[in-house]
Amino acid sequence: MSACPPMLLLLQLLCLCQAAPGYSNGFFYHDVLNGNGNGEIYFNGVRLHVETTEAPIFAVRGSNVTLPCHYQYEPQLTSLRRTRVKWSWLPAGGGHEIDVLVAIGHRHRSFAGFKGRVKLQQNSPGDVSLLFTDLSLNDTGRYRCEVIDGLEDESATVDLELRGVVFPYQPSEGRYRLNFSAARRACEEQDSALATFEQIFAAWEEGLDWCNAGWLADGTVQYPIATPREPCGGQGVAPGVRTYGPRHRRLHLYDAFCFSSSLRGTVYFLQHPHKLNFTEATQACEEDGSQIARVGQIYAAWRFTGLDHCEAGWLADGSVRYPIATPRPNCGSQEPGVRSFGFPTKNHKHGVYCFRTP
Ligand SMILES: *[C@@H]1O[C@H](CO)[C@@H](O)[C@H](O)[C@H]1NC(C)=O
Ligand SMILES: *[C@@H]1O[C@H](CO)[C@@H](O)[C@H](O)[C@H]1NC(C)=O
Ligand SMILES: *[C@@H]1O[C@H](CO)[C@@H](O)[C@H](O)[C@H]1NC(C)=O
Ligand SMILES: *[C@@H]1O[C@H](CO)[C@@H](O)[C@H](O)[C@H]1NC(C)=O
Repeated sequence: MSACPPMLLLLQLLCLCQAAPGYSNGFFYHDVLNGNGNGEIYFNGVRLHVETTEAPIFAVRGSNVTLPCHYQYEPQLTSLRRTRVKWSWLPAGGGHEIDVLVAIGHRHRSFAGFKGRVKLQQNSPGDVSLLFTDLSLNDTGRYRCEVIDGLEDESATVDLELRGVVFPYQPSEGRYRLNFSAARRACEEQDSALATFEQIFAAWEEGLDWCNAGWLADGTVQYPIATPREPCGGQGVAPGVRTYGPRHRRLHLYDAFCFSSSLRGTVYFLQHPHKLNFTEATQACEEDGSQIARVGQIYAAWRFTGLDHCEAGWLADGSVRYPIATPRPNCGSQEPGVRSFGFPTKNHKHGVYCFRTP
């Protein structure tokens, strides 16, 4: 946005003659008079530049990250104007921008889910980078860094993405049983979140091929196809992430695509003298000082720590799976992956995967 038209500025200056400086429309009108102390006013020909990075910032769950943002004036000012800085967030799943933090000088206020997790770096003049701690799965999206100095209002955006793993999820009731909110809850119960389009696209680039359509975080329904074939949209169609577009969140039922990132904790196959039914499996993990692992956790351990064990084990949702990092005979397909045996009846006897937090 450009500076106010001269007429408006004049009116603002006139107002200042009578009233004490203060806010109006969120601007500091008295900052119009900020200068070098010689009565010069710098609103002519001075431009405010706000810069972030174009490349997305990648991080993992639970880590800390800095979203860079700097501003400067051209030509340089001899003394900095007083500015207000606002960070806001456009979630990867869509919706409207949400306030993250507002700062004036060294004071700042953060909002809702960001309270206590964000602050400004302020290492040097003009450095308004956002220090972000303890990232969670649903923090991804586009962050806007906005600098407002009463004359100008400039902003730039930076994308935050998480490194992780996408997995298709079907509940025990079977295929296509989830409305949008049930899909979101199903992912959360597996220590994951509905995947964003960026995440499923990255997974497709790495070879994810799944012939059942699933909900994504933005309310669209899509499926990734690496090898076109008849039952999956036809052979004549190019490989890609196929979309049904936005679907009715309440009436339409599909599977889910969930996203999990790294873990603070470890997943392990419990060494136990005999095989266990589901109830016994859950207890056995507890007796070992841990918990039966969730699906998002076994995927994250497979992906981030190379968990590889060729024995089927119960997971918390009642499914039976095993993770293979190095494919070999008698351990499923020739691709690495988490093999699934679906949801056997709970009196079946298997091993169990447990999850221990540090
Ligand atoms: C993130 O920063 C916080 C506060 O500065 C610190 O306590 C924590 O150990 C950091 N976490 C990681 C994973 O580095
Ligand atoms: C985002 O994730 C955190 C931690 O998992 C959770 O507490 C919070 O409710 C989630 N927020 C939204 C908007 O889903
Ligand atoms: C979605 O499905 C769940 C479980 O079947 C149901 O309890 C819930 O009412 C549905 N939500 C909506 C918005 O229809
Ligand atoms: C598992 O076995 C125990 C006996 O060890 C039994 O009490 C329990 O009902 C069984 N659970 C299931 C789901 O079959």
